Amino acid sequence: MSIIEVDALEVLDSRGRPTVKAMLTLASGARGSASVPAGASTGAAEAFELRDGDPRRFRGMGCLKAVGHLRGEFADWALAEAPEDQATLDAGIRELDGTDGFARLGANAALALSLAYARARAGERGIPLWRYISELAGTKPAIPLPMINLFSGGKHAGGQVELQDVQVMPLQAGSTSKVLATVFDVFTAAAELVHRRYGMRMLRADEGGLAPPFSDAAEMLQCAVDAISRSGRQGVALTVDVAASHFWNAGTYQIDGTELDSAGVIDLISGWIDRFPIVSIEDGLAEEDWDGWPQLRTVLNGRAMTLGDDLLCTNVARINRAVAARAADALLLKANQVGTLTDALAAFQAARAAGWRIVVSARSGETEDDWLADLAVGLGADHIKIGSITQSERLAKYNRLVEIEHLWKLPSPLPVVRGDDAGRSGSSWCD
Ligand code: PGA
Ligand code: ZN
Repeated sequence: MSIIEVDALEVLDSRGRPTVKAMLTLASGARGSASVPAGASTGAAEAFELRDGDPRRFRGMGCLKAVGHLRGEFADWALAEAPEDQATLDAGIRELDGTDGFARLGANAALALSLAYARARAGERGIPLWRYISELAGTKPAIPLPMINLFSGGKHAGGQVELQDVQVMPLQAGSTSKVLATVFDVFTAAAELVHRRYGMRMLRADEGGLAPPFSDAAEMLQCAVDAISRSGRQGVALTVDVAASHFWNAGTYQIDGTELDSAGVIDLISGWIDRFPIVSIEDGLAEEDWDGWPQLRTVLNGRAMTLGDDLLCTNVARINRAVAARAADALLLKANQVGTLTDALAAFQAARAAGWRIVVSARSGETEDDWLADLAVGLGADHIKIGSITQSERLAKYNRLVEIEHLWKLPSPLPVVRGDDAGRSGSSWCD
C-alpha cells in the first residue's frame, strides 16, 4: 500500500535533548509514528546520528536537519517509489542515503521512518506491532526477561565509578508483573541503603538508576547484593554493563584507580563472578580489543553471558567476525545503531544463527515511545534492557510488556540464563 504522506517533528528525549519523530500515512488511511532514542555511551561503529551542529541551538544537538530530510528527500522518495513492504522501504532509504551507516541523511531520521512505516503497516492489518515484527523475522514471539537498572556510573552518571550499569534480573519471577513487583522491592531497598550509607536520597542517573559515590566497582556490586538481601527477595541475579570502551585508552584500561591490560580486566571480572551473582557481562572489554574478547568468553563460559554492545553495534559484519572469533555469545540489539528495522532483523538473524542469546536494548536517552517492547516480543528475544523502573520513558516499555502479556497470553519470561556451553562449568546462579 503506497505512502501518501511523511511528516516529522523534533521532539525532546529523557535528557531534554532533541530527537526525531516521524509520522507516516498510507493510502489506506492507516497511520504510524515513531520516535527514536539516542545513546551517550556510544560505540564507534554505530550508524550516524545526524545533529545540526549549531552551537546556538541545543548546544549543537538540534535535529532540524534530520527532520528536514524526512519531510524532504525521504518523503519525496517514499511517495514516488511506493515501497510495498518493509524490506523494500528499508533497502530503498539506505540506497537513497548512499553511504554506509546513513552518514548523509542520518540514521535517526531513517529509523524513525522505518518504524513509523512498520506501525502503519501493522495498523493497516489490525495486528499489533510485535506480531508484524515476528512475521518479518520468522520468529516465535515471547515475553523477554528484563534486566533492570539499579546503579549507574560511567557515562550514565557522574563518572564516580567506571562501571556503567549494575542491573537486577529476577530469574524465576514467571511474569513481567512479578518481575516488576520484585524489582520494586529491590530498588526501594537499594534507595534506603544508599540513603543510609551515602547520605543521599535519590540521585538519579540517565536510565533512572541510583548513582551514589561508590569508591569502586566491587562496592557497587556488593551494595546491589545487599539491596537484594534487604528486600527479602530470592533468586535475583545481577547483570553488569562494564562499558569498557569508555575507560580504555591505547590498549590500557583505567579502572578503580588502577591501570590494567586485557588479562587484568578479565581477572577482575572473573573475581566479580566468583563473589557476586552475576549472570551477564556486557562490554567487559573495549570495542577494538578483539584479541581479549575470546579470552573473556572462555573465562565466562557457562557462568555468565558474554554480551557485546559497543563491540558489535548491531552490525552484521561485526557479529560475524565475533562469531568466527568466538568473542561473544550474546548480542545487545539497539535498532538505532543500524538505522532500519530490516538491518536490526539481519543482526538478530546473524546472532541467532550462531546460537547466541539476544538482549533488545533501549538507549540512555529515550522517549515515551514503546516500540522497543514490541520489538523484543516480536523477535522472541531472551532479554530486554530498558533501564530502571522510575522514569516514564522506561515505564512506557515495561507497561507495554505487561499489556502484551495480558492481552495475548504469550509465554512468560524465561526462568534460565546461561551461556551457550552452560553445564560444563555452570554456577548455581545460572541453573
Ligand atoms: P547508551 O548506553 O544508550 O548511552 O549507549 C546503553 C548501553 O551502553 O548499553
Ligand atoms: Zn552497553
